[in-house]
Amino acid sequence: MAEKKGPVVKVSKELMDMLNQAIAREIQVAIQYMWQHVMWGGVKGFAVKDELQSIAVEEMKHAESIAERLYYLGGTPTTKPDPIFVGSTLKEMIEQDVKDEEVAIRLYQKIVAKAKAENDETTNHLFRDILEQEEDHHDTFTTLLEDLD
Ligand SMILES: [Fe+2]
Ligand SMILES: [Fe+2]
Repeated sequence: MAEKKGPVVKVSKELMDMLNQAIAREIQVAIQYMWQHVMWGGVKGFAVKDELQSIAVEEMKHAESIAERLYYLGGTPTTKPDPIFVGSTLKEMIEQDVKDEEVAIRLYQKIVAKAKAENDETTNHLFRDILEQEEDHHDTFTTLLEDLD
């Protein structure tokens, strides 16, 4: 039987490591936001709990898409999340979420540029799409935070 051929696109180990960093933080925030959705409190919590759930689901979809891409490129997607911080008050939760979205935006800007430099158009395209959604999440969380002061 013929050996399975590798991907047409070859990328650096450095880019593959960045994709794994992205997966680790997507799994982190997927769990973090879902648990915040479960543990919300107070009247203001009632208003944001559904938003937390829907963003958590989007993050899990990001983890899946990035894992698919990394696996295709010949890497092994990590199963380990970055450290999860749920928080005990709603303000603490949303403050953390704003920070985590900032981390995502900075990392994904780097991945977009790196993938472009390595002529990996698909990874470039994937991360431009995801980046747009992370900017939306960041916007949502900063808006929610204004109401919590
Ligand atoms: Fe995400
Ligand atoms: Fe996000």
